[in-house]
Amino acid sequence: MTHAPAFLEARRSIRAFLPEPIGRAALDRLVEAACLAPAPHHSRPWRFVVVDSTAGKRALARGMGERWRRDLAGDGVAPDRIDALVSASHAKLEGAPAFVLGCLTWDGLDRYPDEARRRAEWGMALLSLGAAVENLMLAAADAGLASCWVAAPIFCPEEARDALGLPREWLPHALVLVGQPDPEYTGRPRPPVPLGELRDWR
Ligand SMILES: Cc1cc2nc3c(=O)[nH]c(=O)nc-3n(C[C@H](O)[C@H](O)[C@H](O)COP(=O)(O)O)c2cc1C
Repeated sequence: MTHAPAFLEARRSIRAFLPEPIGRAALDRLVEAACLAPAPHHSRPWRFVVVDSTAGKRALARGMGERWRRDLAGDGVAPDRIDALVSASHAKLEGAPAFVLGCLTWDGLDRYPDEARRRAEWGMALLSLGAAVENLMLAAADAGLASCWVAAPIFCPEEARDALGLPREWLPHALVLVGQPDPEYTGRPRPPVPLGELRDWR
């Protein structure tokens, strides 16, 4: 326990779900919560794609999995190990009742002629997407739902976009699995916050 507000303590990554579907109204409430996040210059450079169909979940898992397969092969990982990793990832993803896929767009962002400022602007958008995802997960915890952020799409935004047939300018960067929590799941204990290491004063 920390001295943080209880609603922050209550959010944990939960990686196992009951098979029950989650209603679309409940999923919309999570997306609305996400959209209250702060964002640069009053923009909302996000698009949230809610994937609750078996076909959609499978398409996304397979599209990202194929890219991961190629990356692992390029790293020299043995083929049977690649098969095991990619199948475990498919099972984990497809076992979640719903996905919320957070995408970034340039909509509302400033355009710069130079690469350094373009990168900084995109970095701001990414920070705001992180804030939106945190809002979404806090809202899920508040509604008694389990959620877990999955890094995969940030490594293969184009493959994730194309797997779902999204517009070219929507680039997936954050995947959140959502469902009713499996009561059997026990996560790792949360380590204490070492303020002395993570915070400095000037
Ligand atoms: C950007 C990001 C990517 C993450 N990717 C994954 C992931 O791919 N798989 C996973 O099981 N958890 C993933 N997590 C969840 C972290 O492992 C988790 O937040 C961390 O262990 C702290 O635990 P807590 O969320 O229960 O407090 C990710 C978290 C963040 C912020």
